[in-house]
Amino acid sequence: MATQEETFKKIVAHCKEYGFVFPSSEIYDGLAAVYDYGQNGVELKNNIKRYWWDSMTLLHENIVGIDAAIFMHPTVWKASGHVDAFNDPLIDNRDSKKRYRADVLIEEQLAKIEEKINKEIEKAHKRFGDAFDEAQFRATNARVLEHQAHFDALHQRYSDAMNKMDLDELKQIILDEEIVCPISGTRNWTDVRQFNLMFSTEMGSTADGAMRVYLRPETAQGIFVNYLNVQKTGRMKLPFGIAQIGKAFRNEIVARQFIFRMREFEQMEMQFFIKPGTELDWFNHWKQFRLKWHKALGLGDDKYRFHDHEKLAHYANAATDIEFQMPFGFKEVEGIHSRTNFDLSQHAKYSGKKIEYFDPETNTSYTPYVIETSIGVDRMFLSILCGAYKEEQLEGGDTRVVLNLPPVLAPVKACVMPLVRKDGLPEKAREIMDMLKFDFHTTYDEKDSIGKRYRRQDAIGTPFCITVDHDTLEDNCVTIRFRDTMEQERVKIDDLHDIIRKATDMKVLFRKIMNSN
Ligand code: GAP
Repeated sequence: MATQEETFKKIVAHCKEYGFVFPSSEIYDGLAAVYDYGQNGVELKNNIKRYWWDSMTLLHENIVGIDAAIFMHPTVWKASGHVDAFNDPLIDNRDSKKRYRADVLIEEQLAKIEEKINKEIEKAHKRFGDAFDEAQFRATNARVLEHQAHFDALHQRYSDAMNKMDLDELKQIILDEEIVCPISGTRNWTDVRQFNLMFSTEMGSTADGAMRVYLRPETAQGIFVNYLNVQKTGRMKLPFGIAQIGKAFRNEIVARQFIFRMREFEQMEMQFFIKPGTELDWFNHWKQFRLKWHKALGLGDDKYRFHDHEKLAHYANAATDIEFQMPFGFKEVEGIHSRTNFDLSQHAKYSGKKIEYFDPETNTSYTPYVIETSIGVDRMFLSILCGAYKEEQLEGGDTRVVLNLPPVLAPVKACVMPLVRKDGLPEKAREIMDMLKFDFHTTYDEKDSIGKRYRRQDAIGTPFCITVDHDTLEDNCVTIRFRDTMEQERVKIDDLHDIIRKATDMKVLFRKIMNSN
């Protein structure tokens, strides 16, 4: 069986081979941590965005969207704290000349210890079978207890150092844990330094006195600075939300794991403005709603978990991540943050404008509090691909690679295939395609054997293949083949539209989200 690492490598290769994701500027050997989406990738990405956008703006009459510019006045980033505090602690290895994030090196060390515990548990599970009691084993096994004590102590030391941003202590942890550079294998480390993650450029010509501007590191600030515009022009009453999808840029030091951590990526963020004092109720509400949104896709409820933050940013009074089980462990896909009135107050202070809400119920004005939901499109894309990628052993020794994508998100919904390239079958197939193409992304394929054509569609996650044969010309029926079960059924051409719609209609998922508790 393939290890998780091998599976991940296969997913990355699959993304390239089937037109989902390409390295940026590949003919020039690529650009680190920057990627392009191909013909299938862009469809999947657009479907993810549509699923998010509609779930915000259609399902909530009090949420509206905006599309703010990437460039913003530089004072925005001073007010938000990004100029002074959007830093990562970095460390260099003198031998390999490679740069790392000190916090990531320590987190990887923590993950290694966790891995050792999991291996002990796995071994014991195999040994004891059904009688195995994991809780008891964790509480009594000497090796597990030793690893757990190491983990707890390191975790505490690391959290304290990060909370205080104690750079010397971070370096000392790396030395004490004997963490080596994965390239040179040595412990020849420099001191830990702060590194600001924002990209900057010049706006205007130098003769005019060019202004340093930043590429936004999050889309949220575009929402905060438009709070008053939207509230006034939309006559919005609290609570209400503003949603936005757009590019964000971060000069990430550790740019690995494919599209998990990119330098240019896309965010889908929603800021929900509320009355102070109601934030914890709304925080819990959004936590549950967002988890339901993920789970409705059907990739498996056990693949998601919350990770509540112990270390809170100074302006937040609650924060959690929704994590997805990637092949390299449970990883953050979305953050939900209770941001108090920090951002609006900061913008009021730096702009000198009054940024408040007049509450007609209490006849008072106040600065609203904010709950933020923030998800990366690319990370969501990666989680979907990792959850959907399957290698199946078929009867007769064959293997097939299939993407069990949620049909609503699949780039292509149906592929129409004439059994042979003659006898009027291609024409009939084109007729069917013309009938479906206004509602569904449909493709046509007449090359190679039907088996090969099925495999090509499996590999990009097309839920339905529709085969036109000689009988079709007589009975107006086709064979529809279902991706996941590989079962085939003879159906009327007139029924095709309904069959595909039922399986790919986002409304079905939206009802599921709204009706589940
Ligand atoms: N406005 C809040 C904010 O930006 P964040 O936790 O820094 O919070 C939110 O980012 C989400 O954006 C993350 O959960 C992740 O999905 C995505 N994200 C952040 N940095 C990323 C990167 N370098 N590459 C891809 N996605 C990223």
